[in-house]
Amino acid sequence: MREEKIQKILIVDDEPKNLKLLGVFLKSYGHVYETAKDGFEALEKIKESPPDLIFLDIMMPGIDGFEVCEKLKKNPETSPIPIVLLTSLADKESRNRGLQLGASDFLSKPFDKTELMVKAKNLLRIREYEGFLKEHNKLLSEEVAKRTSDLRSALRGREEAYQQLRESKDHLKESYIDCIRRLTFVSEYKDQETASHIGRIGYYCSFITKELGMSVEVSEGILYASPMHDIGKVSIPSEILLKTGKLTFEEFALMKTHTTAGGEILKDSVSSFLQMAEKIALSHHERWDGKGYPKGLKGEEIPIEARIMNIADQYDALRSSRPYKPAFDHAKVCKIILEGDGRTMPQHFDPRILEFFRANHEKLEQIFEKYKD
Ligand code: C2E
Ligand code: SIN
Ligand code: SIN
Ligand code: SIN
Ligand code: FE
Ligand code: FE
Repeated sequence: MREEKIQKILIVDDEPKNLKLLGVFLKSYGHVYETAKDGFEALEKIKESPPDLIFLDIMMPGIDGFEVCEKLKKNPETSPIPIVLLTSLADKESRNRGLQLGASDFLSKPFDKTELMVKAKNLLRIREYEGFLKEHNKLLSEEVAKRTSDLRSALRGREEAYQQLRESKDHLKESYIDCIRRLTFVSEYKDQETASHIGRIGYYCSFITKELGMSVEVSEGILYASPMHDIGKVSIPSEILLKTGKLTFEEFALMKTHTTAGGEILKDSVSSFLQMAEKIALSHHERWDGKGYPKGLKGEEIPIEARIMNIADQYDALRSSRPYKPAFDHAKVCKIILEGDGRTMPQHFDPRILEFFRANHEKLEQIFEKYKD
């Protein structure tokens, strides 16, 4: 999926000696570069063909490095290009000004080859990753849009087929439940092992909802809506979904998009079940303290159904074996949820739901045992 694209560096310095030296260093590591001898030439070349990284001298006749930096950072087309300012080591004031203007880093004169290479490599890698994410998001939204429209026509077709039965609300409801069963099947499809997790989730959620005194509609709704929480995982490559090791930062960034993908798949439904499922899919990894994803919602900004789902999901994920972790016993899972283990922390949960968990964890254990396989 990741397309190899040749990255280009631009070196800007009025001193021909420096241009030559930096050029020799970069070339020895196989980088492709261009040079500009002043700010005007630099702006001209960047406009013609934007580079992926710029080494920019500060002191130059005409427009100096600060001004070039400021111009580039103001333009949304060029602002993502990382800039490394070439400066003398002692010059703290220039460094502060450079940082304020949006420079990514500094390279001290006289140049150190290793320092140059490490900075170039890191900044180019970040640049490549940004490009990759942008491309992935674009592909993802195209794919999701297509799947969503297919799904919509499927649902519409079903509605028409049931037209004559419309007078009876129960038949309509039945048809939705039938659809939902199929959607739930889709989210199990890529990972057979988690099929029983998906089945149990509805029981935990509807138990919690009922006991917290919520309406019958909500506790019945959540029974059918919650099993679709991870449906967005259909957009995650299986190599990542089934990886036995810890995810890299980049893989986890992709994994997090299962929430927004799920929301897209489920949105704009006329069914109250699917409307609830959309909220749950989108927000089941938000955290009470605002440290969750995808939006970083806080406290009651997070829909109550998603807050309930979050604790049920974690309880069950921790009890189950996953490609990347073994199953833990009930006592260990209670300890992780109630006392935290660094990754999961008590402040992630709605305090009222956490207290409910403290008082009723045995009932969740019973559900787990009853629907184990
Ligand atoms: P999942 O496996 O269904 O896990 C759901 C949530 O349960 C996780 O959300 C996390 O909050 C909790 N959880 C699961 N295992 C553990 C654990 O060992 N310790 C603790 N403290 N909590 C745990 P999270 O972290 O947002 O992850 C979302 C999804 O990303 C996971 O769904 C899983 O599919 C995937 N994932 C996360 N970490 C890894 C990993 O290291 N390797 C692989 N292959 N997938 C991972
Ligand atoms: C899936 O992998 O398709 C979803 C299962 C889960 O909840 O982890
Ligand atoms: C519907 O959305 O009209 C059927 C399901 C429900 O009763 O909420
Ligand atoms: C991970 O294991 O990569 C995810 C850590 C987290 O829960 O933020
Ligand atoms: Fe999830
Ligand atoms: Fe889950």
